Amino acid sequence: MAAGGDAALPVTRTDLDPKDQKRVEAVTRPATDFSKPEQFELMAGGAATSRATPNGNAFSHFSANITFEEEQTFKLGNALFTKLWVSAPSSTQASDGLGPLFNARACQSCHLKDGRGHPPEGSADATSMFLRLARPARTDEEREAIADYRKLNFPDAVYGAQLQDLAVPGLKSEGRMQVSYEETPVTLAGGEVVQLRKPIYSVTDLGFGPLEGDVTLSPRVAPPMIGMGLVQAIHEADILTKADPDDRDGDGISGRPALVRDHRSGELKLGRFGFKAQNASIRDQSSSAFAGDLGLSTPDDPFDHGDCTKAQAECLARPTGVQKRLGPVEAPDPVLPLVTFYSENLAVPARRAIGDTTVLSGKELFYRSGCTACHTPKFVTRRDAGNKAHAFQLIWPYSDFLLHDMGEGLADGQQVGVADGREWRTQPLWGIGLTETVNAHTFFLHDGRARNLTEAILWHGGEAGKARDAFASLAKPDRAALIKFLESL
Ligand code: HEC
Ligand code: HEC
Repeated sequence: MAAGGDAALPVTRTDLDPKDQKRVEAVTRPATDFSKPEQFELMAGGAATSRATPNGNAFSHFSANITFEEEQTFKLGNALFTKLWVSAPSSTQASDGLGPLFNARACQSCHLKDGRGHPPEGSADATSMFLRLARPARTDEEREAIADYRKLNFPDAVYGAQLQDLAVPGLKSEGRMQVSYEETPVTLAGGEVVQLRKPIYSVTDLGFGPLEGDVTLSPRVAPPMIGMGLVQAIHEADILTKADPDDRDGDGISGRPALVRDHRSGELKLGRFGFKAQNASIRDQSSSAFAGDLGLSTPDDPFDHGDCTKAQAECLARPTGVQKRLGPVEAPDPVLPLVTFYSENLAVPARRAIGDTTVLSGKELFYRSGCTACHTPKFVTRRDAGNKAHAFQLIWPYSDFLLHDMGEGLADGQQVGVADGREWRTQPLWGIGLTETVNAHTFFLHDGRARNLTEAILWHGGEAGKARDAFASLAKPDRAALIKFLESL
Protein backbone atom coordinates (compact mmCIF):
# COMPACT_ATOMS: atom_id res chain seq x y z
CA MET A 1 0.00 0.00 0.00
CA ALA A 2 2.82 2.37 -0.89
CA ALA A 3 0.49 4.82 -2.59
CA GLY A 4 -1.62 5.17 0.52
CA GLY A 5 1.47 5.63 2.62
CA ASP A 6 2.81 8.23 0.23
CA ALA A 7 -0.25 10.39 0.71
CA ALA A 8 -0.64 9.47 4.37
CA LEU A 9 -4.11 8.24 3.44
CA PRO A 10 -5.69 5.80 5.86
CA VAL A 11 -5.43 2.19 4.74
CA THR A 12 -7.93 0.93 7.27
CA ARG A 13 -11.33 2.35 8.07
CA THR A 14 -10.93 4.85 10.82
CA ASP A 15 -14.66 5.53 11.12
CA LEU A 16 -15.89 2.11 12.29
CA ASP A 17 -15.68 0.10 15.48
CA PRO A 18 -14.80 -3.60 15.07
CA LYS A 19 -18.45 -4.67 15.20
CA ASP A 20 -19.49 -2.28 12.42
CA GLN A 21 -16.41 -3.27 10.46
CA LYS A 22 -17.67 -6.88 10.48
CA ARG A 23 -21.16 -5.84 9.40
CA VAL A 24 -19.72 -3.81 6.54
CA GLU A 25 -17.55 -6.70 5.39
CA ALA A 26 -20.53 -9.05 5.40
CA VAL A 27 -22.84 -6.77 3.48
CA THR A 28 -20.29 -5.80 0.80
CA ARG A 29 -19.16 -9.36 0.07
CA PRO A 30 -19.57 -10.25 -3.62
CA ALA A 31 -22.83 -11.99 -4.51
CA THR A 32 -22.75 -15.79 -4.72
CA ASP A 33 -26.45 -16.59 -5.02
CA PHE A 34 -27.93 -15.43 -8.32
CA SER A 35 -31.31 -17.08 -7.88
CA LYS A 36 -32.77 -13.95 -6.31
CA PRO A 37 -31.88 -10.30 -5.75
CA GLU A 38 -29.60 -9.42 -2.85
CA GLN A 39 -30.95 -7.64 0.17
CA PHE A 40 -31.18 -3.85 -0.43
CA GLU A 41 -30.10 -4.26 -4.07
CA LEU A 42 -33.09 -2.24 -5.27
CA MET A 43 -31.80 0.86 -3.51
CA ALA A 44 -28.66 1.53 -5.56
CA GLY A 45 -27.92 4.75 -3.67
CA GLY A 46 -28.92 3.54 -0.20
CA ALA A 47 -31.45 5.70 1.64
CA ALA A 48 -30.63 8.56 -0.76
CA THR A 49 -32.08 6.56 -3.69
CA SER A 50 -34.90 8.15 -5.67
CA ARG A 51 -38.00 5.99 -6.01
CA ALA A 52 -39.65 8.38 -8.49
CA THR A 53 -41.04 6.97 -11.74
CA PRO A 54 -38.06 6.49 -14.06
CA ASN A 55 -38.91 9.01 -16.77
CA GLY A 56 -36.93 11.75 -18.53
CA ASN A 57 -36.31 13.46 -15.17
CA ALA A 58 -34.91 10.32 -13.56
CA PHE A 59 -31.49 11.91 -12.86
CA SER A 60 -32.83 15.24 -11.58
CA HIS A 61 -34.25 14.27 -8.19
CA PHE A 62 -32.63 15.18 -4.89
CA SER A 63 -31.35 12.57 -2.43
CA ALA A 64 -34.48 11.11 -0.84
CA ASN A 65 -33.08 11.45 2.68
CA ILE A 66 -32.12 15.13 2.83
CA THR A 67 -33.92 17.51 5.17
CA PHE A 68 -36.54 20.03 4.07
CA GLU A 69 -34.03 22.81 4.57
CA GLU A 70 -31.45 21.04 2.41
CA GLU A 71 -34.11 20.57 -0.23
CA GLN A 72 -34.33 24.38 -0.49
CA THR A 73 -30.54 24.61 -0.82
CA PHE A 74 -30.68 21.96 -3.56
CA LYS A 75 -33.27 24.03 -5.44
CA LEU A 76 -31.11 27.16 -5.25
CA GLY A 77 -28.20 25.09 -6.56
CA ASN A 78 -30.38 23.75 -9.35
CA ALA A 79 -31.25 27.28 -10.46
CA LEU A 80 -27.52 28.08 -10.73
CA PHE A 81 -26.75 24.81 -12.50
CA THR A 82 -29.30 25.62 -15.22
CA LYS A 83 -28.60 29.38 -15.29
CA LEU A 84 -27.50 30.80 -18.63
CA TRP A 85 -24.56 33.11 -17.96
CA VAL A 86 -23.98 36.10 -20.24
CA SER A 87 -20.90 38.07 -21.20
CA ALA A 88 -19.83 41.21 -19.37
CA PRO A 89 -20.87 43.94 -19.31
CA SER A 90 -24.58 43.25 -19.30
CA SER A 91 -27.74 44.72 -17.85
CA THR A 92 -28.31 41.65 -15.69
CA GLN A 93 -25.11 42.12 -13.71
CA ALA A 94 -25.50 39.18 -11.38
CA SER A 95 -25.44 36.85 -14.42
CA ASP A 96 -22.45 38.15 -16.32
CA GLY A 97 -18.82 37.11 -16.52
CA LEU A 98 -19.15 34.33 -19.09
CA GLY A 99 -15.91 33.72 -20.98
CA PRO A 100 -14.21 35.49 -22.67
CA LEU A 101 -13.62 31.95 -23.99
CA PHE A 102 -16.10 29.24 -23.12
CA ASN A 103 -17.60 25.93 -24.17
CA ALA A 104 -21.15 26.47 -22.94
CA ARG A 105 -23.33 29.04 -21.15
CA ALA A 106 -24.61 26.75 -18.39
CA CYS A 107 -23.57 23.63 -16.53
CA GLN A 108 -26.78 22.04 -17.72
CA SER A 109 -25.91 22.66 -21.40
CA CYS A 110 -23.43 19.78 -21.15
CA HIS A 111 -24.87 17.72 -18.31
CA LEU A 112 -28.15 17.54 -20.18
CA LYS A 113 -31.01 16.77 -17.82
CA ASP A 114 -28.29 16.02 -15.23
CA GLY A 115 -27.36 13.12 -17.47
CA ARG A 116 -24.68 12.70 -20.06
CA GLY A 117 -23.65 14.65 -23.13
CA HIS A 118 -23.01 13.22 -26.57
CA PRO A 119 -20.56 13.58 -29.43
CA PRO A 120 -21.61 15.84 -32.31
CA GLU A 121 -23.90 13.87 -34.53
CA GLY A 122 -24.29 15.14 -38.06
CA SER A 123 -24.50 18.83 -37.20
CA ALA A 124 -21.56 20.85 -35.89
CA ASP A 125 -22.98 20.81 -32.35
CA ALA A 126 -20.23 19.87 -29.90
CA THR A 127 -21.60 21.64 -26.86
CA SER A 128 -21.76 18.70 -24.48
CA MET A 129 -18.22 17.60 -25.23
CA PHE A 130 -14.80 19.24 -25.48
CA LEU A 131 -11.11 18.63 -26.02
CA ARG A 132 -8.62 18.89 -23.16
CA LEU A 133 -5.24 20.16 -24.33
CA ALA A 134 -2.04 19.18 -22.56
CA ARG A 135 1.59 18.44 -23.16
CA PRO A 136 3.97 16.33 -21.07
CA ALA A 137 6.78 17.70 -18.93
CA ARG A 138 9.78 18.95 -20.92
CA THR A 139 12.30 19.74 -18.21
CA ASP A 140 13.48 18.18 -14.96
CA GLU A 141 11.76 20.97 -13.12
CA GLU A 142 8.47 20.15 -14.83
CA ARG A 143 8.89 16.44 -14.19
CA GLU A 144 9.50 17.24 -10.55
CA ALA A 145 6.28 19.28 -10.41
CA ILE A 146 4.30 16.28 -11.67
CA ALA A 147 6.09 13.85 -9.34
CA ASP A 148 5.23 16.13 -6.45
CA TYR A 149 1.59 16.34 -7.59
CA ARG A 150 1.82 20.12 -8.00
CA LYS A 151 0.96 19.84 -11.71
CA LEU A 152 -1.14 17.30 -13.60
CA ASN A 153 0.41 18.22 -16.98
CA PHE A 154 1.11 21.44 -18.90
CA PRO A 155 -1.26 23.50 -21.03
CA ASP A 156 -0.69 24.64 -24.60
CA ALA A 157 1.20 27.95 -24.42
CA VAL A 158 -1.44 29.71 -26.55
CA TYR A 159 -4.68 27.77 -26.21
CA GLY A 160 -4.43 26.79 -22.56
CA ALA A 161 -5.82 23.61 -21.02
CA GLN A 162 -8.96 23.26 -23.09
CA LEU A 163 -10.15 24.12 -26.58
CA GLN A 164 -12.99 26.63 -26.18
CA ASP A 165 -15.09 26.66 -29.31
CA LEU A 166 -17.08 29.73 -28.25
CA ALA A 167 -16.10 33.31 -27.39
CA VAL A 168 -17.82 36.53 -26.35
CA PRO A 169 -18.95 38.84 -29.20
CA GLY A 170 -16.04 40.37 -31.07
CA LEU A 171 -13.47 37.83 -29.89
CA LYS A 172 -12.26 34.97 -32.09
CA SER A 173 -13.03 31.52 -30.75
CA GLU A 174 -10.14 29.07 -30.48
CA GLY A 175 -11.26 26.61 -33.09
CA ARG A 176 -13.60 23.75 -33.71
CA MET A 177 -13.30 20.13 -32.72
CA GLN A 178 -13.65 17.77 -35.65
CA VAL A 179 -14.33 14.10 -35.33
CA SER A 180 -14.49 11.48 -38.02
CA TYR A 181 -14.89 7.74 -37.58
CA GLU A 182 -13.36 4.64 -39.10
CA GLU A 183 -15.38 1.46 -38.79
CA THR A 184 -13.88 -1.93 -38.00
CA PRO A 185 -15.93 -5.11 -37.85
CA VAL A 186 -15.65 -7.40 -34.83
CA THR A 187 -17.03 -10.93 -34.89
CA LEU A 188 -18.58 -12.35 -31.73
CA ALA A 189 -19.28 -15.95 -30.76
CA GLY A 190 -22.03 -17.37 -32.98
CA GLY A 191 -21.02 -15.16 -35.91
CA GLU A 192 -22.72 -11.87 -35.02
CA VAL A 193 -20.72 -8.97 -36.48
CA VAL A 194 -20.55 -5.63 -34.66
CA GLN A 195 -19.03 -2.50 -36.22
CA LEU A 196 -16.85 -0.46 -33.87
CA ARG A 197 -16.23 3.15 -34.88
CA LYS A 198 -12.81 4.54 -34.02
CA PRO A 199 -12.85 8.32 -33.67
CA ILE A 200 -10.15 10.53 -35.13
CA TYR A 201 -9.95 14.02 -33.61
CA SER A 202 -8.58 17.21 -35.06
CA VAL A 203 -9.12 20.95 -34.71
CA THR A 204 -10.11 23.26 -37.56
CA ASP A 205 -10.33 27.05 -37.77
CA LEU A 206 -7.56 27.48 -35.19
CA GLY A 207 -7.89 31.13 -34.17
CA PHE A 208 -4.39 31.70 -32.85
CA GLY A 209 -1.99 29.68 -34.98
CA PRO A 210 -0.94 26.04 -34.58
CA LEU A 211 -1.01 24.02 -31.37
CA GLU A 212 2.35 23.11 -29.87
CA GLY A 213 3.79 19.94 -31.38
CA ASP A 214 3.65 17.79 -28.26
CA VAL A 215 0.12 18.80 -27.24
CA THR A 216 -2.41 15.96 -27.23
CA LEU A 217 -6.18 16.18 -27.62
CA SER A 218 -8.26 14.42 -24.96
CA PRO A 219 -11.94 14.23 -25.91
CA ARG A 220 -14.43 14.22 -23.02
CA VAL A 221 -18.20 13.92 -23.05
CA ALA A 222 -20.04 15.26 -20.00
CA PRO A 223 -20.82 12.35 -17.66
CA PRO A 224 -24.07 11.93 -15.66
CA MET A 225 -24.30 13.83 -12.37
CA ILE A 226 -25.94 11.23 -10.09
CA GLY A 227 -24.68 9.81 -6.80
CA MET A 228 -21.55 11.91 -6.51
CA GLY A 229 -21.94 12.87 -2.84
CA LEU A 230 -22.02 9.16 -2.06
CA VAL A 231 -18.88 8.55 -4.10
CA GLN A 232 -17.20 11.33 -2.15
CA ALA A 233 -18.26 9.58 1.08
CA ILE A 234 -16.59 6.26 0.24
CA HIS A 235 -13.76 5.75 2.71
CA GLU A 236 -10.28 6.02 1.12
CA ALA A 237 -9.29 2.70 2.66
CA ASP A 238 -12.04 0.85 0.77
CA ILE A 239 -10.71 2.15 -2.54
CA LEU A 240 -7.03 1.74 -1.66
CA THR A 241 -7.42 -1.92 -0.60
CA LYS A 242 -8.53 -2.72 -4.14
CA ALA A 243 -5.47 -1.06 -5.67
CA ASP A 244 -2.90 -3.53 -6.94
CA PRO A 245 -0.49 -1.32 -8.90
CA ASP A 246 2.06 -4.08 -9.44
CA ASP A 247 -0.57 -6.78 -10.02
CA ARG A 248 0.68 -8.87 -7.09
CA ASP A 249 -2.34 -11.17 -7.31
CA GLY A 250 -1.51 -11.88 -10.96
CA ASP A 251 -5.04 -11.47 -12.30
CA GLY A 252 -3.87 -9.10 -15.03
CA ILE A 253 -5.68 -6.19 -13.39
CA SER A 254 -3.69 -3.62 -11.49
CA GLY A 255 -5.76 -0.58 -10.59
CA ARG A 256 -3.90 2.49 -9.40
CA PRO A 257 -5.17 5.20 -7.10
CA ALA A 258 -5.05 8.74 -8.48
CA LEU A 259 -3.40 11.07 -5.98
CA VAL A 260 -4.11 14.74 -6.41
CA ARG A 261 -3.88 17.93 -4.44
CA ASP A 262 -6.96 19.46 -2.91
CA HIS A 263 -7.27 22.84 -4.62
CA ARG A 264 -7.76 24.86 -1.46
CA SER A 265 -5.63 23.12 1.17
CA GLY A 266 -2.97 21.69 -1.14
CA GLU A 267 -3.19 18.42 0.79
CA LEU A 268 -2.62 15.16 -1.06
CA LYS A 269 -5.94 13.35 -1.47
CA LEU A 270 -7.41 10.44 -3.37
CA GLY A 271 -8.74 11.59 -6.76
CA ARG A 272 -12.21 10.33 -7.61
CA PHE A 273 -13.89 12.68 -10.07
CA GLY A 274 -13.34 13.22 -13.77
CA PHE A 275 -12.44 10.57 -16.34
CA LYS A 276 -8.87 10.42 -15.03
CA ALA A 277 -9.90 10.82 -11.38
CA GLN A 278 -8.06 14.14 -11.39
CA ASN A 279 -10.22 15.82 -8.75
CA ALA A 280 -10.56 14.79 -5.12
CA SER A 281 -13.80 16.63 -4.46
CA ILE A 282 -16.96 17.69 -6.21
CA ARG A 283 -16.16 21.27 -5.23
CA ASP A 284 -12.79 21.11 -7.00
CA GLN A 285 -14.37 19.59 -10.10
CA SER A 286 -17.06 22.30 -10.05
CA SER A 287 -14.72 25.28 -9.64
CA SER A 288 -12.65 23.89 -12.53
CA ALA A 289 -15.84 23.69 -14.61
CA PHE A 290 -16.68 27.31 -13.81
CA ALA A 291 -13.18 28.33 -14.91
CA GLY A 292 -12.57 26.10 -17.92
CA ASP A 293 -16.04 25.41 -19.33
CA LEU A 294 -17.84 28.69 -18.59
CA GLY A 295 -14.93 31.12 -18.03
CA LEU A 296 -16.21 32.31 -14.64
CA SER A 297 -14.03 33.04 -11.62
CA THR A 298 -14.95 31.64 -8.18
CA PRO A 299 -13.27 32.16 -4.80
CA ASP A 300 -11.38 28.86 -5.37
CA ASP A 301 -10.19 29.84 -8.84
CA PRO A 302 -10.20 33.66 -8.88
CA PHE A 303 -8.74 34.28 -12.37
CA ASP A 304 -11.45 36.27 -14.17
CA HIS A 305 -10.36 35.46 -17.70
CA GLY A 306 -10.88 31.72 -17.51
CA ASP A 307 -8.62 29.87 -19.88
CA CYS A 308 -7.17 32.97 -21.66
CA THR A 309 -3.38 32.68 -21.82
CA LYS A 310 -0.69 35.38 -21.92
CA ALA A 311 -0.46 34.80 -25.65
CA GLN A 312 -4.14 35.81 -26.03
CA ALA A 313 -3.85 39.54 -25.32
CA GLU A 314 -7.24 40.42 -26.81
CA CYS A 315 -8.88 37.87 -24.58
CA LEU A 316 -7.15 39.24 -21.48
CA ALA A 317 -8.24 42.77 -22.43
CA ARG A 318 -11.95 41.90 -22.23
CA PRO A 319 -13.98 43.32 -19.36
CA THR A 320 -14.66 40.96 -16.48
CA GLY A 321 -18.01 40.31 -14.86
CA VAL A 322 -16.84 41.18 -11.36
CA GLN A 323 -19.37 43.37 -9.53
CA LYS A 324 -17.59 44.76 -6.48
CA ARG A 325 -20.84 45.08 -4.53
CA LEU A 326 -21.52 41.34 -5.03
CA GLY A 327 -18.03 40.09 -4.33
CA PRO A 328 -14.45 39.95 -5.63
CA VAL A 329 -15.08 37.30 -8.33
CA GLU A 330 -17.56 36.70 -11.16
CA ALA A 331 -19.37 33.92 -9.31
CA PRO A 332 -18.99 34.99 -5.67
CA ASP A 333 -20.19 32.95 -2.70
CA PRO A 334 -22.62 31.33 -2.30
CA VAL A 335 -22.63 30.29 -5.99
CA LEU A 336 -19.93 27.62 -5.77
CA PRO A 337 -21.12 26.06 -2.48
CA LEU A 338 -24.70 25.95 -3.78
CA VAL A 339 -23.76 24.33 -7.08
CA THR A 340 -21.52 21.92 -5.20
CA PHE A 341 -24.34 20.96 -2.84
CA TYR A 342 -26.60 20.41 -5.82
CA SER A 343 -24.01 18.24 -7.56
CA GLU A 344 -23.55 16.20 -4.39
CA ASN A 345 -27.21 15.44 -4.02
CA LEU A 346 -28.57 14.29 -7.35
CA ALA A 347 -30.11 10.97 -6.43
CA VAL A 348 -29.33 7.60 -7.93
CA PRO A 349 -32.55 6.07 -9.26
CA ALA A 350 -33.82 2.78 -7.85
CA ARG A 351 -33.02 -0.35 -9.86
CA ARG A 352 -35.68 -1.87 -12.10
CA ALA A 353 -36.53 -5.54 -12.74
CA ILE A 354 -34.01 -6.85 -10.20
CA GLY A 355 -35.94 -10.11 -9.74
CA ASP A 356 -36.28 -10.82 -13.47
CA THR A 357 -34.66 -14.18 -14.25
CA THR A 358 -32.81 -12.84 -17.31
CA VAL A 359 -31.48 -9.91 -15.28
CA LEU A 360 -30.30 -12.27 -12.57
CA SER A 361 -28.55 -14.55 -15.01
CA GLY A 362 -27.02 -11.46 -16.67
CA LYS A 363 -25.75 -10.43 -13.26
CA GLU A 364 -24.12 -13.83 -12.80
CA LEU A 365 -22.47 -13.50 -16.23
CA PHE A 366 -21.26 -10.00 -15.30
CA TYR A 367 -19.53 -11.53 -12.27
CA ARG A 368 -18.25 -14.58 -14.18
CA SER A 369 -16.85 -12.51 -17.05
CA GLY A 370 -14.59 -10.60 -14.65
CA CYS A 371 -16.39 -7.27 -14.89
CA THR A 372 -16.49 -6.89 -11.10
CA ALA A 373 -12.68 -6.84 -10.97
CA CYS A 374 -13.04 -3.12 -11.76
CA HIS A 375 -16.76 -2.43 -11.60
CA THR A 376 -16.91 -3.08 -7.81
CA PRO A 377 -20.58 -3.67 -7.02
CA LYS A 378 -20.94 -2.18 -3.54
CA PHE A 379 -19.51 -0.10 -0.72
CA VAL A 380 -20.71 1.15 2.64
CA THR A 381 -19.96 4.87 2.88
CA ARG A 382 -18.17 6.39 5.85
CA ARG A 383 -20.03 6.95 9.08
CA ASP A 384 -18.46 10.38 9.54
CA ALA A 385 -19.42 11.77 6.10
CA GLY A 386 -19.80 15.56 6.03
CA ASN A 387 -23.42 15.31 4.94
CA LYS A 388 -25.51 12.96 7.09
CA ALA A 389 -27.55 11.90 4.06
CA HIS A 390 -24.44 10.28 2.62
CA ALA A 391 -23.24 8.61 5.81
CA PHE A 392 -23.17 4.83 6.37
CA GLN A 393 -25.15 3.92 3.26
CA LEU A 394 -24.90 0.65 1.35
CA ILE A 395 -24.38 1.86 -2.23
CA TRP A 396 -23.99 0.06 -5.58
CA PRO A 397 -21.93 2.26 -7.94
CA TYR A 398 -20.19 -0.59 -9.83
CA SER A 399 -16.81 1.12 -9.82
CA ASP A 400 -13.54 0.79 -7.91
CA PHE A 401 -12.69 4.47 -8.68
CA LEU A 402 -9.18 3.38 -9.65
CA LEU A 403 -7.20 4.00 -12.83
CA HIS A 404 -6.81 1.17 -15.31
CA ASP A 405 -4.83 0.72 -18.50
CA MET A 406 -7.65 0.22 -21.01
CA GLY A 407 -5.41 -0.48 -23.99
CA GLU A 408 -4.39 1.40 -27.12
CA GLY A 409 -7.90 1.50 -28.56
CA LEU A 410 -9.23 3.82 -25.86
CA ALA A 411 -5.94 5.65 -25.22
CA ASP A 412 -5.90 9.43 -25.60
CA GLY A 413 -2.14 9.63 -25.03
CA GLN A 414 -2.59 12.38 -22.47
CA GLN A 415 -1.03 12.18 -19.02
CA VAL A 416 -3.11 13.69 -16.23
CA GLY A 417 -1.09 13.55 -13.02
CA VAL A 418 -0.79 9.93 -11.96
CA ALA A 419 -2.87 8.72 -14.93
CA ASP A 420 -0.94 7.98 -18.10
CA GLY A 421 -2.22 8.21 -21.66
CA ARG A 422 -3.81 4.74 -21.59
CA GLU A 423 -5.45 4.95 -18.18
CA TRP A 424 -9.02 5.83 -17.29
CA ARG A 425 -10.99 5.75 -14.07
CA THR A 426 -13.53 2.92 -13.95
CA GLN A 427 -16.80 4.56 -14.85
CA PRO A 428 -19.61 3.91 -12.34
CA LEU A 429 -22.46 2.00 -13.96
CA TRP A 430 -25.37 3.01 -11.75
CA GLY A 431 -28.18 4.59 -13.72
CA ILE A 432 -26.64 3.53 -17.04
CA GLY A 433 -29.81 1.70 -18.04
CA LEU A 434 -31.76 4.96 -17.98
CA THR A 435 -29.47 6.78 -20.43
CA GLU A 436 -31.90 6.46 -23.31
CA THR A 437 -34.88 7.46 -21.13
CA VAL A 438 -33.13 10.61 -19.87
CA ASN A 439 -30.93 11.64 -22.80
CA ALA A 440 -32.60 9.96 -25.78
CA HIS A 441 -29.35 8.35 -26.93
CA THR A 442 -27.03 5.51 -25.99
CA PHE A 443 -23.57 6.94 -26.60
CA PHE A 444 -21.11 5.59 -24.03
CA LEU A 445 -17.45 5.85 -22.96
CA HIS A 446 -15.42 8.99 -22.32
CA ASP A 447 -15.91 10.28 -25.86
CA GLY A 448 -19.27 8.76 -26.75
CA ARG A 449 -17.78 6.55 -29.46
CA ALA A 450 -19.81 3.51 -28.37
CA ARG A 451 -23.33 3.62 -29.83
CA ASN A 452 -24.71 1.06 -27.40
CA LEU A 453 -23.67 -1.03 -24.40
CA THR A 454 -22.32 -3.91 -26.50
CA GLU A 455 -19.92 -1.57 -28.31
CA ALA A 456 -18.88 -0.03 -24.98
CA ILE A 457 -17.85 -3.45 -23.68
CA LEU A 458 -16.07 -4.41 -26.92
CA TRP A 459 -13.87 -1.29 -26.69
CA HIS A 460 -12.45 -2.57 -23.37
CA GLY A 461 -8.78 -3.56 -23.83
CA GLY A 462 -5.56 -3.60 -21.82
CA GLU A 463 -6.30 -4.79 -18.28
CA ALA A 464 -9.92 -5.32 -19.31
CA GLY A 465 -9.03 -7.39 -22.39
CA LYS A 466 -9.78 -10.71 -20.68
CA ALA A 467 -13.21 -9.55 -19.55
CA ARG A 468 -13.95 -8.23 -23.04
CA ASP A 469 -12.98 -11.59 -24.56
CA ALA A 470 -15.13 -13.41 -22.00
CA PHE A 471 -18.10 -11.27 -23.09
CA ALA A 472 -17.36 -11.72 -26.81
CA SER A 473 -17.26 -15.49 -26.42
CA LEU A 474 -20.60 -15.76 -24.61
CA ALA A 475 -23.48 -17.26 -26.56
CA LYS A 476 -25.76 -14.60 -28.03
CA PRO A 477 -28.60 -15.07 -25.48
CA ASP A 478 -26.04 -14.79 -22.65
CA ARG A 479 -24.66 -11.55 -24.06
CA ALA A 480 -28.22 -10.28 -24.24
CA ALA A 481 -28.79 -11.26 -20.60
CA LEU A 482 -25.66 -9.41 -19.48
CA ILE A 483 -26.84 -6.31 -21.37
CA LYS A 484 -30.28 -6.66 -19.78
CA PHE A 485 -28.59 -6.65 -16.38
CA LEU A 486 -26.76 -3.42 -17.29
CA GLU A 487 -30.08 -1.94 -18.41
CA SER A 488 -31.55 -2.68 -14.99
CA LEU A 489 -28.83 -0.57 -13.29
C1 HEC B 1 -18.70 22.16 -21.87
C2 HEC B 1 -19.35 21.06 -21.20
C3 HEC B 1 -19.44 21.09 -19.70
C4 HEC B 1 -19.93 22.10 -18.90
C5 HEC B 1 -20.47 23.44 -19.32
C6 HEC B 1 -19.86 21.61 -17.54
N1 HEC B 1 -19.35 20.36 -17.51
FE1 HEC B 1 -19.09 19.21 -15.86
N2 HEC B 1 -18.15 17.83 -16.97
C7 HEC B 1 -17.94 17.90 -18.34
C8 HEC B 1 -17.03 16.87 -18.74
C9 HEC B 1 -16.54 16.62 -20.16
C10 HEC B 1 -16.68 16.16 -17.57
C11 HEC B 1 -15.64 15.06 -17.43
C12 HEC B 1 -14.42 15.88 -17.15
C13 HEC B 1 -13.12 15.25 -17.00
O1 HEC B 1 -12.88 14.10 -17.18
O2 HEC B 1 -12.25 16.04 -16.64
C14 HEC B 1 -17.42 16.78 -16.48
C15 HEC B 1 -17.38 16.35 -15.16
C16 HEC B 1 -18.06 16.93 -14.12
C17 HEC B 1 -18.12 16.42 -12.77
C18 HEC B 1 -17.49 15.12 -12.29
C19 HEC B 1 -18.28 13.94 -12.77
C20 HEC B 1 -17.69 12.60 -12.45
O3 HEC B 1 -18.36 11.59 -12.72
O4 HEC B 1 -16.58 12.51 -11.96
C21 HEC B 1 -18.82 17.33 -12.02
C22 HEC B 1 -19.13 17.27 -10.55
C23 HEC B 1 -19.19 18.40 -12.91
N3 HEC B 1 -18.73 18.12 -14.18
C24 HEC B 1 -19.86 19.54 -12.52
C25 HEC B 1 -20.11 20.62 -13.37
C26 HEC B 1 -20.60 21.90 -12.92
C27 HEC B 1 -20.97 22.24 -11.49
C28 HEC B 1 -20.69 22.70 -14.02
C29 HEC B 1 -21.07 24.16 -14.09
C30 HEC B 1 -20.29 25.06 -13.28
C31 HEC B 1 -20.24 21.90 -15.14
N4 HEC B 1 -19.89 20.66 -14.71
C32 HEC B 1 -20.21 22.36 -16.45
C33 HEC B 1 -18.51 18.81 -19.20
C34 HEC B 1 -19.07 20.00 -18.80
C1 HEC C 1 -9.81 -3.38 -16.01
C2 HEC C 1 -10.99 -2.71 -15.48
C3 HEC C 1 -12.32 -2.98 -16.15
C4 HEC C 1 -12.94 -4.20 -16.38
C5 HEC C 1 -12.43 -5.59 -16.06
C6 HEC C 1 -14.21 -3.87 -16.99
N1 HEC C 1 -14.35 -2.52 -17.11
FE1 HEC C 1 -15.96 -1.53 -17.89
N2 HEC C 1 -14.95 0.22 -17.74
C7 HEC C 1 -13.70 0.39 -17.21
C8 HEC C 1 -13.24 1.74 -17.45
C9 HEC C 1 -11.91 2.32 -17.02
C10 HEC C 1 -14.27 2.38 -18.16
C11 HEC C 1 -14.26 3.81 -18.71
C12 HEC C 1 -13.65 3.77 -20.08
C13 HEC C 1 -13.86 4.99 -20.94
O1 HEC C 1 -14.73 5.80 -20.67
O2 HEC C 1 -13.13 5.13 -21.94
C14 HEC C 1 -15.34 1.40 -18.31
C15 HEC C 1 -16.55 1.66 -18.93
C16 HEC C 1 -17.59 0.75 -19.05
C17 HEC C 1 -18.88 1.04 -19.62
C18 HEC C 1 -19.33 2.39 -20.17
C19 HEC C 1 -19.73 3.28 -19.03
C20 HEC C 1 -20.17 4.66 -19.45
O3 HEC C 1 -20.79 5.33 -18.61
O4 HEC C 1 -19.88 5.12 -20.56
C21 HEC C 1 -19.60 -0.13 -19.56
C22 HEC C 1 -21.03 -0.32 -20.04
C23 HEC C 1 -18.76 -1.13 -18.98
N3 HEC C 1 -17.54 -0.56 -18.67
C24 HEC C 1 -19.13 -2.45 -18.77
C25 HEC C 1 -18.24 -3.46 -18.44
C26 HEC C 1 -18.55 -4.88 -18.51
C27 HEC C 1 -19.90 -5.46 -18.88
C28 HEC C 1 -17.41 -5.54 -18.16
C29 HEC C 1 -17.19 -7.03 -18.15
C30 HEC C 1 -17.38 -7.71 -19.44
C31 HEC C 1 -16.40 -4.54 -17.86
N4 HEC C 1 -16.93 -3.31 -18.06
C32 HEC C 1 -15.13 -4.83 -17.41
C33 HEC C 1 -12.95 -0.58 -16.56
C34 HEC C 1 -13.22 -1.94 -16.61
